[in-house]
Amino acid sequence: MRKFILAAASIAALTFVGPAAAQSPIVLKFSHVVASDTPKGKAADKFKELAEKYTGGKVKVEVYPNSTLYKDKEELEALQLGAVQMLAPSNSKFGPIGIKEFEVFDLPYILPDLKSLRKVTDGPLGAQLLKKLDSKGMTGLAYWDNGFKQMSANKKLIAPADYKGLKFRIQSSKVLEAQFRALGSIPQVMAFSDVYQALQTGVVDGQENTWSNIYTQKMHEVQKYATVTNHGYIGYVVVVNKKFWDGLPADIREQLTKAMKEATEFGNNQSAKENDDALAEIKKAGKTEIISLTPEQDEAMRKAMMPVYKDVASRVGQPLIDEFLKETGRSPMN
Ligand code: LMR
Repeated sequence: MRKFILAAASIAALTFVGPAAAQSPIVLKFSHVVASDTPKGKAADKFKELAEKYTGGKVKVEVYPNSTLYKDKEELEALQLGAVQMLAPSNSKFGPIGIKEFEVFDLPYILPDLKSLRKVTDGPLGAQLLKKLDSKGMTGLAYWDNGFKQMSANKKLIAPADYKGLKFRIQSSKVLEAQFRALGSIPQVMAFSDVYQALQTGVVDGQENTWSNIYTQKMHEVQKYATVTNHGYIGYVVVVNKKFWDGLPADIREQLTKAMKEATEFGNNQSAKENDDALAEIKKAGKTEIISLTPEQDEAMRKAMMPVYKDVASRVGQPLIDEFLKETGRSPMN
């Protein structure tokens, strides 16, 4: 795969805006791993529509959904090499390329609601985190929402003890690894596009994701139970290859910035509804029993996961965790 990325990168370098390409549009490849019919998929399509409109066709955005170009880890490599120009990986996926700070978003129950999330992403902390991307050859343009994660398995998951000994697919985040270890489960890192098959064949017993991802990947067809836990958050950082971005004519960069701002508002305003709609569809399909927790059961889950904060403090940074909690103004225990 690396060879393929390198070959694609050199073709991209050859075809990139040179004087001879003055008339041909600048191609911006936007790769992502989820279905088009999800919060990220819709925001990406909106960006394409607006970017092409505002640049009068000078930029052509090619959106590649559903891991058609690259799987999780490969897509960040591809971006750094210039084989694609734009991505929106989840916060969890920046750890493996050395930006561990984004894993703060993975801490269990750190975000009580989307309003608190905005305080972080729209404030100085959000900007400070985006700056960290520069050293990795990328520019952070926006934060896109998905929503809150739920747990699923072929076993009823109610109390922390129910998780003991089960294998759970996780994204490549040390915080998520610590979270499942705190529950006595066995976490297994796996690319998003491989999850359905792993659940179907029993390679893993369960997984955590948002309703929109569960529904569009048909995970509900191979999981008997899903519990409404809202225990964690999945959101994205829209990143662009820095060399590509800095090399764009200023007016084009401005038009793309405007398109990104509007696509972000569009996507973030409807992400919660997308997840609600997906849950309704899962219920309608009738293949998964949806379990709700009582306040006491919810508290037991929170309590079981609190050790994670200590476990990952040295990796993510205690000052960052403190600042994050200060911004949201809430404790993860309530
Ligand atoms: C996952 O790997 O579960 C998610 O990050 C997929 C996505 O991009 O929403």
